[in-house]
Amino acid sequence: MNKAKAILIKNADIITGEIQRYGDILIEDGIIKQISEHIQLPTTEYIEYNAVGKYLIPGGIDPHVHLSLPSNHGLSSDNFETGSIAALFGGTTTIIDFVTPGKNESLISALEQRQAEIKNCYCDYALHMSITSWQNNYTSEIETCVKEDGIPSFKIYLAYKDSIGLEDEYFFKVLEELSKHKAMIMIHAENGDLIKHLQHKYLSLGLFGTQYHAMSRPDDAEAEAVFRSLTFSKYTNCPVYFVHISTEKALRYIAEARNNGQKVWAETCPHYLMFNESCYKPVFDESAKYVMSPPLRAARNNQALWEGLKNETINVLATDHCPFHYKSQKEKGKTDFTKIPNGVGGIEHRLQLSYTYGVLQEKISLQQWVQLNATNPAKIFGLYPQKGIIAEGSDADLVIWNPNLQQTISVNNQHQQCDHNIYENIKITGNAETVILRGIPIIENQQLLQKKSFGKFVFRNM
Ligand code: URP
Ligand code: ZN
Repeated sequence: MNKAKAILIKNADIITGEIQRYGDILIEDGIIKQISEHIQLPTTEYIEYNAVGKYLIPGGIDPHVHLSLPSNHGLSSDNFETGSIAALFGGTTTIIDFVTPGKNESLISALEQRQAEIKNCYCDYALHMSITSWQNNYTSEIETCVKEDGIPSFKIYLAYKDSIGLEDEYFFKVLEELSKHKAMIMIHAENGDLIKHLQHKYLSLGLFGTQYHAMSRPDDAEAEAVFRSLTFSKYTNCPVYFVHISTEKALRYIAEARNNGQKVWAETCPHYLMFNESCYKPVFDESAKYVMSPPLRAARNNQALWEGLKNETINVLATDHCPFHYKSQKEKGKTDFTKIPNGVGGIEHRLQLSYTYGVLQEKISLQQWVQLNATNPAKIFGLYPQKGIIAEGSDADLVIWNPNLQQTISVNNQHQQCDHNIYENIKITGNAETVILRGIPIIENQQLLQKKSFGKFVFRNM
């Protein structure tokens, strides 16, 4: 690893979630030291970048990724090394992954196990804790997570009742406990009982294709779970963050609750903006790649989600990066859609896709793009103002974004580790040209500069 030399970035069009300004930036010891219209050349050795004609943005923060996630058909195909490198190539400098204890397992021992699995992470990272069941000692374990382990956000799954899904009676317990510690609940909102009922119905009729994956997880499953969660969170006074919102219906409930004064945040993912249910064609090998939960929706939802980003009902764009190879993993569900491992990749394409299809198509502004991809996740998840902003004293996690770089996404040029890419052949304009992590240049002109990882765990407070 290079010793952190000073860095001077000249003539940058600086975009933050709050302002756009023109100027120079001086980085020393991994921190943004000075921002000014014109900075004198440092007297010590330094690296200089001329950012004329480019944007300087805070490093992206992806608060929803699943690296090496266990499934019935093995781990998701990116580990912390390959996934973090892919994230950096796309301009993301911090990711937040999950600890997923089994039912009745100690949260703390699951955390220790997860920490041991995290090897060679090239970007900075944090963790959310999942809760999949309830034990009385979780009361003190939750407190330990929040106060001693820097994990103030907890995820529950209302789907997946047979594995990691949480029953409603425990849902209340979790909310009450989190509320005491000013921690946050993150919810995978899909009604697990309805899904189970529909899955059995279709399979018993011999209907096993991927379109039944979508049909067994209708909009109503998401909308009902969102409404129920909002109701529970209202009566327990626990702030709630909805992961991967995919429907217009759910957005309406979220907007209404927020108008009524509830603390609620919503996230969506690039695949819900870019694709719709027409991807679930009868040809299995093509459509299995798009099997994720919630599923892709009717096309009208794409527009509703873009509008949700613009009118700020949706606060965060995250990837839910959880790729599985087609060969040996997705293909295992050929004769039963419930056996296809759920999840898709996208960790390196979030900024590119939202810039090309959001900013350039005037669906969101440049500042909203930065808010959605960096500033809001930093604020919501307790990383701000250390990260998610370009300000004196903040970590120098920065991206020089070249708005003119063009590329066609393909499995042949991706850095993600997966045998396909759901965005294959999609064209992007604009890409991360230089990526700096805590003052160290790590990506430049599509090259990884550092051969050893130096990503750090980030302790969060909210
Ligand atoms: O299909 C998905 N989203 N897989 C990842 C796990 C989850 O449900 O978030
Ligand atoms: Zn989920």
